[in-house]
Amino acid sequence: MITKIDQASGLRARASAQPTLPPVQVIAVSSGKGGVGKTNIVANIAVAGAKQGTRVMIMDADLALGNLDVLLGLTPVYSLEDVIAGRRTLEEIVVEGPAGVQILPATSGVQDLTALSRDQQLHLQTQFLNLATPPELLLIDCAAGISANVLYFSLVAHEVLVVVTPEPTSLTDAYALIKVLSTRYRQKRFRILINMAKQVREAKDVFRKLSKVTDRFLSLSLDFAGWVPLDDHLPMAVCQQQAVVEAFPKAPSSRALSDLMTTLLGWRSDHPMDGGLQLFGPSVLWTPTQEGA
Ligand SMILES: Nc1ncnc2c1ncn2[C@@H]1O[C@H](COP(=O)(O)OP(=O)(O)OP(=O)(O)O)[C@@H](O)[C@H]1O
Ligand SMILES: [Mg+2]
Repeated sequence: MITKIDQASGLRARASAQPTLPPVQVIAVSSGKGGVGKTNIVANIAVAGAKQGTRVMIMDADLALGNLDVLLGLTPVYSLEDVIAGRRTLEEIVVEGPAGVQILPATSGVQDLTALSRDQQLHLQTQFLNLATPPELLLIDCAAGISANVLYFSLVAHEVLVVVTPEPTSLTDAYALIKVLSTRYRQKRFRILINMAKQVREAKDVFRKLSKVTDRFLSLSLDFAGWVPLDDHLPMAVCQQQAVVEAFPKAPSSRALSDLMTTLLGWRSDHPMDGGLQLFGPSVLWTPTQEGA
């Protein structure tokens, strides 16, 4: 079996041997609180991006309780569990979703996958580096909470998009996530997306409330990434196992999610792929601290 050190030096050699590959923009979508719309947002921005001609891949990083495949009406044979166990490669488990989005499905009901070991993290990173045709954009749909995996996937991304709703519990959980990532892991840039707001005023108000506390207690200023309205078309599309941008392209949520995709591609020039530990680069070994685990 290859040792950890051998794998790490192999990764470094491979990364430096491929300077011509375009960088992959990696965005992790997190929230703290569950049920705020992360999976729907990821699925829809991915489909909107693919329709605009971007090569998008989505990773269902809710490794133990994934449901991205169900949301999009897909029935994958293999999952990331097979990749992590070394039985399959990423290319073997990828399934094609709407508009050609590439989806890396997770399994559902495997408790051991809530905290990847260092070897499993390295193995996954090697798999990403070995992709013959890497995507232009990788969206990571994180699990709810602040588990070791959520922190790990947030740290290997260039950007963390935190989804918040107007519910006070969503605000406190988002704050908890931002606090752990910024104080324990020195993550300094957070993009905030307000979901399920009734109008722009409410969305800006929620953003202001969160900014006020992060500014005061964490000395951190947040970026407003946009907002998605509370829209019945979205759950209707979920019931049809379709992305709302496909089922109801003119619905208010579809328009907002398509705009978000454009905004997010613009982040490439704001901060040309800096930040994060970089999933598609060398040296991503990471161990959660006691508090982060
Ligand atoms: N803008 C919206 N308008 C109306 N309903 C919405 C909106 N966004 C999400 N929902 C609904 O909220 C519910 C939760 O969405 P979703 O599963 O995407 O959340 P999640 O954050 O991924 O949840 P989990 O933390 O369990 O992974 C779904 O029933 C979805 O239809
Ligand atoms: Mg989800």
